[in-house]
Amino acid sequence: MDTKSRSRGFTITRGIVAIVLASVIIIPALGQNITMAQEQKSIQLTKPQIAGNPLMEVLAKRSSSREFSSEALPENILSNMLWAAAGINRPESGRRTAPTAMNKQEIDVYVVSESGIYLYEAKSHTLKMIAAGDLRALAGKQDYVKDAAVNLIYVADFSRMSSSPDRELYAAADTGFVSENVYLYCASAGLATVVRAYIDKPALAKAMKLKADQKIILAQSVGYPKRGR
Ligand SMILES: Cc1cc2nc3c(=O)[nH]c(=O)nc-3n(C[C@H](O)[C@H](O)[C@H](O)COP(=O)(O)O)c2cc1C
Repeated sequence: MDTKSRSRGFTITRGIVAIVLASVIIIPALGQNITMAQEQKSIQLTKPQIAGNPLMEVLAKRSSSREFSSEALPENILSNMLWAAAGINRPESGRRTAPTAMNKQEIDVYVVSESGIYLYEAKSHTLKMIAAGDLRALAGKQDYVKDAAVNLIYVADFSRMSSSPDRELYAAADTGFVSENVYLYCASAGLATVVRAYIDKPALAKAMKLKADQKIILAQSVGYPKRGR
């Protein structure tokens, strides 16, 4: 074989190696990022990873932050965060990581991301699409809201509660537990977060197609901090 054909053969081999490497390393890595394509109606989240930082260290890091990078959250981080927020931690009884008054489980967690609005369904650990498109600017009245990778919206469904005069109080308290779970997960995962009340609730409720019995209680922005990770 002359030098020219040997070098052509070497170039072809390098090309094949590059294609194989791309399919083995790069393509699966891309797949780990959140794939909320607009045509996807339901997203099966991966199994949450339970191991993490010791609680006292996480508590020491808990804080509110309002500076978000535009980087999307990888799907496994979203999965962990939603499970921490209000996932089922006792499958035998269906009870959740956050307590609710009389175990009514009336707080639903919606996710407003770049690709749409989704409802977190704890039983199947899936995200069900409610509306397509980037509606993050509707998730709060402050500028940083549209920059956060996701905004969680905590919605009380009063049709699941009795007509007790305290039901608004219970819904607010129950939301606080979910929000604190998210704060603690974010502290453990190096994410920025802030819980928020300053929301145009009628406009957001309309975009979320909420029923009369459903009421937005609070929202929470989550994303990577603007500088460093
Ligand atoms: C019920 C509630 C509503 C809040 N609403 C907003 C809000 O609309 N916008 C905002 O930027 N921060 C909001 N915050 C975050 C507080 O400002 C923040 O928790 C407080 O300044 C204490 O800071 P820390 O969380 O870092 O300890 C809210 C907090 C709570 C508990």
